[in-house]
Amino acid sequence: MATMESLIGLVNKIQRACTVLGDHGGQGMSLWEALPSVAVVGGQSSGKSSVLESIVGRDFLPRGSGIVTRRPLVLQLHKTASGAEYAEFLHAPKRRLTDFAAVRKEISDETDRITGKTKQISNIPIHLSIYSPHVVNLTLIDLPGLTKVAVEGQSDSIVEDIENMVRSYVEKPNCIILAITPANQDIATSDAIKLAREVDPSGERTFGVLTKLDLMDKGTNATEVLEGRAYRLQHPWVGIVNRSQADINKNVDMIVARRKEREYFETSPDYGHLASRMGSEYLAKLLSQHLELVIKQRIPSIIAMINKTIDELNAELDRIGRPIAADGGAQLYMILELCRAFDRVFKEHLD
Ligand code: GDP
Ligand code: NA
Ligand code: MG
Repeated sequence: MATMESLIGLVNKIQRACTVLGDHGGQGMSLWEALPSVAVVGGQSSGKSSVLESIVGRDFLPRGSGIVTRRPLVLQLHKTASGAEYAEFLHAPKRRLTDFAAVRKEISDETDRITGKTKQISNIPIHLSIYSPHVVNLTLIDLPGLTKVAVEGQSDSIVEDIENMVRSYVEKPNCIILAITPANQDIATSDAIKLAREVDPSGERTFGVLTKLDLMDKGTNATEVLEGRAYRLQHPWVGIVNRSQADINKNVDMIVARRKEREYFETSPDYGHLASRMGSEYLAKLLSQHLELVIKQRIPSIIAMINKTIDELNAELDRIGRPIAADGGAQLYMILELCRAFDRVFKEHLD
């Protein structure tokens, strides 16, 4: 009997195979769209990239003030049993990066390759896979932040362009939304909550994340929000303390940052009673559990989708003739094999 973890691992592999084959979930209901993923939504510099980094437990995303994230980043985490840890970009396959500073540089460079060194954005996603024994199997999507005004060097339409881009990801029914709001901002003005509520009115796929708890004015706290009294969501709110810009400048590493975050909650007079349900590690666990649940619920429809894909792939293989030496054929075989494995595992879970 396969574990749920291996099931999510299979989902990841299929998503990747679909990506390789050029199925980015364009028209109609594709396999990609049938599989769950997690996207971050929030205002510029609310801490989206920082939250994703702490979920992964690795420093590798460009972060900072201003518009740093300018292309969608589709990030697939694959848990490895072997202890191997490396990253691989879809645009540079077979180049295994083990230095995560190099991963960050490549994200920046690849962003600039499309947009130039500007403040412009592009809809074309960057696809990155991270293989590590320390991650949970998840697909995460980092997105540019919502803004209110165009700044120097941006087109007048940028505010709308960003919102449309973000919406195109989070409106998908299988997208789990991490709605990021900084605690030093009033929840009533949260762009993240506004957009999340619009695309997910029932709140069943929205997780409220409150960052920058350490930056709140003295004498104020966020218990109203964290205890769900200020703005009620179906899922519990999770408070986060990411690294500050000063921490980033001082190269405070992830392990230290996580420990400091844990200590912050455990020793806080305001949040001590909530400590076991706060922080990045807890958020990662919560998300993983939710994904398992979602996948279980979707098993019947995913099986139908996979059977359809298998039929289509078989027809395609018949059309181009088999066996095939060319790369395209090999990829088709790969995805067909994955689908068959997936189908088998899913059926076991249904029994
Ligand atoms: P994004 O634009 O939403 O992706 O935000 P980033 O992750 O790039 O973070 C923007 C800035 O806010 C960076 O300088 C971070 O160091 C800082 N930041 C993010 N979260 C926190 C937090 O919880 N506490 C503190 N003190 N700073 C944070
Ligand atoms: Na930013
Ligand atoms: Mg960012």
